[in-house]
Amino acid sequence: MQKLSGKNALITGGNSGIGLATARLFREHGASLIITGRDQASLAEARTALGEDVLAVQSDAGNLADIEQLMNVAKERCGQLDVLFVNAGMALAAPFELVAENIFDEMVAVNIKGIFFTIQKALPLLANGSSVIITTSITNQMGSPNFSVYGACKAAQRSLVKSLGLELIGRGIRVNAISPGPIATPMYGRVGLPNEVEQMVKAEIQGKSPLKRFGESEEVAKVALFLASDDSSYIVGDEIVVDGGMSLL
Ligand SMILES: NC(=O)c1ccc[n+]([C@@H]2O[C@H](COP(=O)([O-])OP(=O)(O)OC[C@H]3O[C@@H](n4cnc5c(N)ncnc54)[C@H](OP(=O)(O)O)[C@@H]3O)[C@@H](O)[C@H]2O)c1
Repeated sequence: MQKLSGKNALITGGNSGIGLATARLFREHGASLIITGRDQASLAEARTALGEDVLAVQSDAGNLADIEQLMNVAKERCGQLDVLFVNAGMALAAPFELVAENIFDEMVAVNIKGIFFTIQKALPLLANGSSVIITTSITNQMGSPNFSVYGACKAAQRSLVKSLGLELIGRGIRVNAISPGPIATPMYGRVGLPNEVEQMVKAEIQGKSPLKRFGESEEVAKVALFLASDDSSYIVGDEIVVDGGMSLL
């Protein structure tokens, strides 16, 4: 049974990793899709793979003008949104004492300011009965050495989910989060570690994991589908952990 038939969904960061896997699953379940990202080549690739009727919009998730323009495009395209998956995010590794102001500002712009204003600017489009989902992270409850800004932003997202969960439910909008543990996506290649260090970090994570493996993007996408659909109709302001038990350690 298709769970998103007739629904309009917007996925930020829909050209890679968790967002792309979710876009695929939402399509299979009948959603009309808008995806965003920065990289034009992978946006075009994603559109070809997902179907030419998918709208792929180049949009910087940390830039307010881009966010406003995105919502104008979404309004023109589909009038209203039933699902908003606020998923775009980035992590840069750096020891605390080496975090420069420009890196701090970029991380905060994408991982919290952009999240906040994406939801705010989408508000006029969000239908009664709609679902907003934020991709947070288990780092928001665990100490994350070398990822202090990222973890702090993800903790702020967690707070936002609770505040907006209560603030928007009166308008018929459910706000929830998915909190992934280690998921095998291109993100690890983008954190700025030399290749051999990246491989060591990945091996360490895998060794620590109670399941002895990384999660797959598709395993997160299934939870996004659950939160997007009416199957989760009584879940508000909550965060579902998808981490193979990692945060229990
Ligand atoms: N993988 C994990 O282990 C893990 C764990 C916990 C949480 N998460 C969260 O999961 C979400 C998705 O990450 P992923 O693992 O799927 O990694 P990914 O494959 O690197 O995907 C990140 C996505 O975010 C987009 N993005 C980043 N900065 C952007 C910006 N300024 N403007 C627009 N789009 C931007 C990227 O688009 P471009 O490629 O076009 O830049 C890409 O589509 C993120 O919020 C991440 O923090 C991931």
